[in-house]
Amino acid sequence: MRRSINENSLIVSLKPKSPISEEYRLLRTKIQFSSKDQELKTVMVTSSQAGEGKSTTISNLAVAYAQEGKKVLLIDANLRKPSLHRIFSQMNHQGLSTLLTGHTSVEDTIQATAVSHLSLLTSGPLSANPSELIDSPAMKELLELLKQQYDLILMDTSSVLAVSDSVIISALCDGVVMVVAAGRAKKDHLKKAKEQLDHVNARMLGIVLNRVV
Ligand SMILES: Nc1ncnc2c1ncn2[C@@H]1O[C@H](COP(=O)(O)OP(=O)(O)O)[C@@H](O)[C@H]1O
Ligand SMILES: [Mg+2]
Repeated sequence: MRRSINENSLIVSLKPKSPISEEYRLLRTKIQFSSKDQELKTVMVTSSQAGEGKSTTISNLAVAYAQEGKKVLLIDANLRKPSLHRIFSQMNHQGLSTLLTGHTSVEDTIQATAVSHLSLLTSGPLSANPSELIDSPAMKELLELLKQQYDLILMDTSSVLAVSDSVIISALCDGVVMVVAAGRAKKDHLKKAKEQLDHVNARMLGIVLNRVV
């Protein structure tokens, strides 16, 4: 039988001793070092284009942090092409979109996952105005509230060049991890993405060179 995508995607959970899992743990360590003395409570992942491996990277990084015993919340803030509910095989009837519109409460919306210490806030159903939801006082307030409840909040976002969502979120985060698809990402796209993040003073924590096959 063919293994489902979610099984392949969550290697740190399924094969913690594999060399790839070790790479994700190394990324965790590098992020901790790059933050120096500054507190790192909210970290997001982005890339210049879609399909470079953002969701895969942030999911495995979240598992790696949770395995360390940290109370971690993973948020799918890619309201246009969400995928964390699939990676973690969770329901997505409610999530960030229903929370931000006031239709559900934090307690009812955040889900436990099969990984201990790791909770998930899925995207929720697609909304007609994702940018307005992301760029809202409600989003800021929600993050402030969640920061008090978790040791670390990790966020998946859209790619930088597609829409402004990820740049807006970067201004709310302590740091950004950039995923670059090896051999596929174009230099000028990367440069443009970096410029947009620099423009809002986003703190770049590291670049992950991902070999998407
Ligand atoms: N290092 C990798 N090796 C093999 N396949 C990968 C790797 N990273 C991502 N993929 C696959 O590539 C596709 C896109 O990855 P995804 O993480 O969803 O990208 P994004 O979130 O940036 O759009 C998915 O099918 C994923 O399973
Ligand atoms: Mg994705």
